[in-house]
Amino acid sequence: MRILVLGSGAREHAIILALRSEEASHDVFAAPGNAGIARDATIVDLDQNHPAAVTAFAKENAVDLVVIGPEAPLVAGVADALRERGIPVFGPGRAAAQLEGSKAFAKRIMDAAGVPSGRALRATTLAEVEHALDDLGAPHVVKADGLAAGKGVIVTEDRGAALAHAAAFLPSGAVLVEEFLSGPEVSLFFLSDGDHVLPLSPAQDYKRLGDGDAGPNTGGMGAYSPLPWLSDLFGDENTFVHHVTTEVAEPVIRQLDAEGTPFIGLLYAGLILTEHGIKVIEFNARFGDPETQVVLPRLVDPLSVLLLAAASGTLEDRPRPAFADAVAVTVVLASEGYPEAPVTGRAIGGLDAAASVEGVHIAHAATAVDGDRLIATGGRVLNVVGLGTTFAEARDRTYRGLAEISLEGGRYRTDIAARVVED
Ligand code: AMP
Ligand code: GLY
Repeated sequence: MRILVLGSGAREHAIILALRSEEASHDVFAAPGNAGIARDATIVDLDQNHPAAVTAFAKENAVDLVVIGPEAPLVAGVADALRERGIPVFGPGRAAAQLEGSKAFAKRIMDAAGVPSGRALRATTLAEVEHALDDLGAPHVVKADGLAAGKGVIVTEDRGAALAHAAAFLPSGAVLVEEFLSGPEVSLFFLSDGDHVLPLSPAQDYKRLGDGDAGPNTGGMGAYSPLPWLSDLFGDENTFVHHVTTEVAEPVIRQLDAEGTPFIGLLYAGLILTEHGIKVIEFNARFGDPETQVVLPRLVDPLSVLLLAAASGTLEDRPRPAFADAVAVTVVLASEGYPEAPVTGRAIGGLDAAASVEGVHIAHAATAVDGDRLIATGGRVLNVVGLGTTFAEARDRTYRGLAEISLEGGRYRTDIAARVVED
């Protein structure tokens, strides 16, 4: 197949590595990509957020499938333009992508579909925010309504900090004040063709910057998959996955379809397992980053076949995708100053040594070639991914890989997946 992947992060690199690992060989194009992606795909000079440019490229180059990684092209209507021209695309149209882009839209769809989530109050003035904070009580959860690249949420005991966060986002629209939900978090991905869904394997993301979940929220600092403790809670992982499929994913997909905004692409359910049941904290309209880096290496089925089936409305005929028993751990190497003000332009070394550790590979996020150096160009620079038969092994491999890498001021969490090793 000829496949175009839009995006430039470790998620897109993981998607491309999964396509590359298939028996069938594909022509893979990527825009804008990064230095790691450039080794595994043909980089094309294309504005990923420009519907007409992407469509023209896909037509001229006989692309069989376009895979949209990040949310920005979805919100820009790239999937709509491709679909209008009959080009198979994995990614929802602009209207359905609001499931991620607007927290208020997501809340309305969940309520209409009867999907469990916490109480939430929408506020457009500081007075309304104060009222909502008092109504829902501490800890306080305040979210920007629109896209904020993982930085729009604050969870705090400090009422002043909650108000300040709201004040920062109110000028660009509304905020949501939410009931605080407590429990372990799970990310579960579903492939959707607009009518039918197929679940992938659960993963857990570490959103906070520092060890022990200290510090600010980030785009995600590490992840692991599968989640062995789900068996303790639900008997087995399948029971959990089946429950979320029938109680969350299917009702939401049906609701979006009924409203004339079918969702074709990746439905990311961010869940909290509270003592009052499983609740949704957020939906995303795309693969999660860094969860994808631990889910896709375990996928047994060819990814291209699944994505094309979703893009062309034929998931109903397919069995649930199979996953290897191998476990996966990933740790993000971030630049100094991330997430507030990442320092960029610094040299990265040791990647070959890292990748030569058994079971380890690297997914690039913000990297570029500068002369004969590889440099960091953003906050989350790369992911080290370790596979193994046990979490102790996968974790050990991941951290041995990381120890080989040099980046001045670079930082990473040292406790990713520690809890599943101790179990
Ligand atoms: P979101 O961008 O909605 O995924 O939120 C980022 C992170 O904030 C989540 O992964 C949770 O750890 C936390 N969070 C969001 N909403 C809530 C909530 N209602 N209760 C507790 N924690 C939350
Ligand atoms: N890992 C969180 C996200 O992709 O939004």
